[in-house]
Amino acid sequence: MDRRYIEFTTPESAQLVTDNPPDPARGEVLIAVRHAGINRADLLQRLGLYPPPDDASPIPGLEVAGEVITVGEDCTHLKAGDRVCALTHGGGYATHAIAREDHCLVLPDAITTEQGAALPEALLTVWYNVFERGRLATGETVLIHGGSSGIGSIGVQMAKTMGATVLSTAGSGERANTVSELGASFVANHREDNLAEQFTEAGYAGKIDVILDIAGGDLMQVNLDLAASDGRIVCIGVMRGMLSEINLATLFMKRLTLTGSTLRRLETAERARCFSAIREHIWPHIIAGNIRPIVDTAYPLTAVLEAHEHMRLGTHFGKLVLDCQVE
Ligand SMILES: NC(=O)c1ccc[n+]([C@@H]2O[C@H](COP(=O)([O-])OP(=O)(O)OC[C@H]3O[C@@H](n4cnc5c(N)ncnc54)[C@H](OP(=O)(O)O)[C@@H]3O)[C@@H](O)[C@H]2O)c1
Repeated sequence: MDRRYIEFTTPESAQLVTDNPPDPARGEVLIAVRHAGINRADLLQRLGLYPPPDDASPIPGLEVAGEVITVGEDCTHLKAGDRVCALTHGGGYATHAIAREDHCLVLPDAITTEQGAALPEALLTVWYNVFERGRLATGETVLIHGGSSGIGSIGVQMAKTMGATVLSTAGSGERANTVSELGASFVANHREDNLAEQFTEAGYAGKIDVILDIAGGDLMQVNLDLAASDGRIVCIGVMRGMLSEINLATLFMKRLTLTGSTLRRLETAERARCFSAIREHIWPHIIAGNIRPIVDTAYPLTAVLEAHEHMRLGTHFGKLVLDCQVE
């Protein structure tokens, strides 16, 4: 049995490499990957701007879906043949990948591996940042920026399902309409200058308890201005810039909390704990079809550069995935 995996030989070239699949260590499983999710961090890794942690696989790819082939020592829940989606510590752009058993979710029959590959990173990111760091509670109002994104399209549905009033942003009226269909009560256009005014006119200024910011830069002061007293703002991305000039008085006048995180640096045990919470609180809604993974396009593994270019251009809605079955 061979493993085929993607190696970026330069930032603009990729090759398929063949080797033997790794053996799963204690608590790990080996997965025959059918589909792998693409994340913005993968583009940065390819360009050399986001090196993987020292203990991670140098092979790109942070999430997969497929079939368990072998289980390592001390695995208690999964067995060969189980269909799963999983967060990987790198290594997802491949025909075979290792994941920790406690970083896997068993796929219901109704969810394809194409859809499953769109879930782990988004579920974990939203759960940890919106529900744990942001402490979003039932009945509160949350603004999830980028409802058209891989993260946002799941986040809007998760927050709605958990009983929040959901607001969002998208880059056009048409994309905003699609985000509304996912459960958002109001969606502003982030490409227009008057972002804060759009929320103010809709009656939400000063009433937003939790904000998930995926863009940073000049968006941060807008977030501070829109937040309710005791609001929590969680920043996870910097597409609008790593530096923000903010009025600190807004922070103390409203007793705001500003925090952030990156999933890649979250400890293994913390990820496992989040997966447990997701199994309990979110997965039943996936099984019931209340939360739907949205896949824009599945590219063949060998067309990874084309898929990355699609993400760079930002014309997708939801997730882009790779079909990892190679002849
Ligand atoms: N910290 C973490 O742990 C973590 C984990 C996962 C992702 N992230 C970050 O979260 C962000 C979304 O990731 P993704 O994989 O879901 O990306 P994605 O699918 O490519 O989506 C990008 C989103 O950003 C919106 N957007 C683009 N330019 C923008 C701008 N100038 N201002 C505001 N919004 C803008 C897009 O809206 P339109 O296309 O509608 O214009 C789209 O909704 C990325 O920054 C990523 O690095 C962080």
